[in-house]
Amino acid sequence: MNKEEKYQELVAQVAAIVNGESDEIANMANVAAVLHEAFGFWWTGFYLVKPSAVSSHELVLGPFQGPIACTRIPLGKGVCGTAWERGETVIVGNVHEFKGHIACSAESNSEIVVPIRKAKGGKSEVTGVLDIDSKEFNTFDETDKKYLEEIVRLL
Ligand code: SME
Repeated sequence: MNKEEKYQELVAQVAAIVNGESDEIANMANVAAVLHEAFGFWWTGFYLVKPSAVSSHELVLGPFQGPIACTRIPLGKGVCGTAWERGETVIVGNVHEFKGHIACSAESNSEIVVPIRKAKGGKSEVTGVLDIDSKEFNTFDETDKKYLEEIVRLL
């Protein structure tokens, strides 16, 4: 099965998970698990936009699979904070060359971060991000972007 076919199965699986459960955290936990298991990523998880004591909002660690991770990320910092600030998916082939990359683990070499958008008060807002880290360089491409964006839209 190629990557595209694998993702098509995952989209159907995620749709089934989300249809059967209304709790977002529970759904994010299972989405992290299915993606992590299917591809054997190094770290797969969510950071959620929450009120902060030091600025108006920050990203706080949510459901994930993989090793222990940083708990809080400010707007514009690291790959996650950049994807949140831009409101668009960021693909990094070599995280060591990304200015401001937050190294939660020295083992991570490439990364994709996909913002989650929700309609709030009549406008669309980023409420969190899906972050996936790989031990290999250049793991993520437009196929990952396309399907991961489809998966987060289901949440
Ligand atoms: N590397 C990320 C931080 C989160 S972890 O790697 C799990 C970043 O630069 O945003």
